[in-house]
Amino acid sequence: MKITKISKSRQPDVDYADLPFGKIFSDHMLWCEYKNGKWGEPHIKPYGKIEVSPALHTLHYGQAIFEGQKAYRMADGRVGVFRAHDNFLRLNKSAERMCIPQVSEEIFMKGLTELIKLDKDWVPKDESISLYIRPFMYGSSEFIAARPSEEYVFCILTSPVGAYYSGDVKVYIEERFVRSADGGVGYAKAAGNYGGSFYPAKKIQEKGYTQIIWTDHRNHELIEESGTMNIAFMIDGVLRTPPLSERILAGITRDSVLTIARDWGIEVQEAPVRVSEVIEAIEKGKLTEAFGMGTAAVISPISVIGFRERDYAIPAQGSDGFAVKVKSHLAGIRSGRIADKYGWMTIV
Ligand code: COI
Repeated sequence: MKITKISKSRQPDVDYADLPFGKIFSDHMLWCEYKNGKWGEPHIKPYGKIEVSPALHTLHYGQAIFEGQKAYRMADGRVGVFRAHDNFLRLNKSAERMCIPQVSEEIFMKGLTELIKLDKDWVPKDESISLYIRPFMYGSSEFIAARPSEEYVFCILTSPVGAYYSGDVKVYIEERFVRSADGGVGYAKAAGNYGGSFYPAKKIQEKGYTQIIWTDHRNHELIEESGTMNIAFMIDGVLRTPPLSERILAGITRDSVLTIARDWGIEVQEAPVRVSEVIEAIEKGKLTEAFGMGTAAVISPISVIGFRERDYAIPAQGSDGFAVKVKSHLAGIRSGRIADKYGWMTIV
């Protein structure tokens, strides 16, 4: 791997007390190009602008995918990346669906760890903030015929980030727009899944909600995801979340939460969750928690669910709730204060 270092780090100028999400990028990035049917040598180089042709394939057809993962400063000062290999596997799943060539484990894992090692001073010291890692791939050929790109770029950026959501998370159950459909690309982290969600999200944000709860494309009767996160409910002491399918992203935070819940002896049901059941459970006082799970926001307790012009308040459980407990358990594993018995941390 080729490494070209910057001459002077920008890190000392960063205000860690005021970090906007994903706007500040660390000194270096990993860059690897796919040409003539194979990946070239990865190059870690200074983060910077790239010049592209207006005919860049991905600008026209969105043959692009990404991952989101995080590196944390551990209590003993070391730096660990959470479930890095799972993001590698998921990137290649998305790549397959979007007709993008597979990237090797060597390029991904070595590229990622060398990059974090080089920019490890960027990993925040404070446990509640982290270094967000954004691997992505896009079609980089310069033609506008509607067929797969012949050339690709695999790049990794890193960015110190604070909280994704500030304040209460109010969500609205969407019954018109859909995020995904059977046979579609919902399970892939395809760029267009996010681009397509901005308009419906903007419409509900105009009504004062933070995000959408997506429902199924057929009848809008089943809960699917919330915004860019997976969603779970505690109903009658059972942790309920929609099952993975072609329509739902296999969230790594989702899997971590379910693993811990099962370990704690909590009954977990990965089975369809009907909108009507959720509303009824709230009305009968059986729904005690609702929360989103994702890399950026980690665990986001939901305070209000809007449905058909009505708002349903979700009781705040505070530190007694499962969501807060599992969030702090995850923080403990990431910091090394709690034993990493699942082998989730890659120390760089
Ligand atoms: C995630 O939290 O999993 C994300 O993908 C967040 C990103 C869209 C900012």
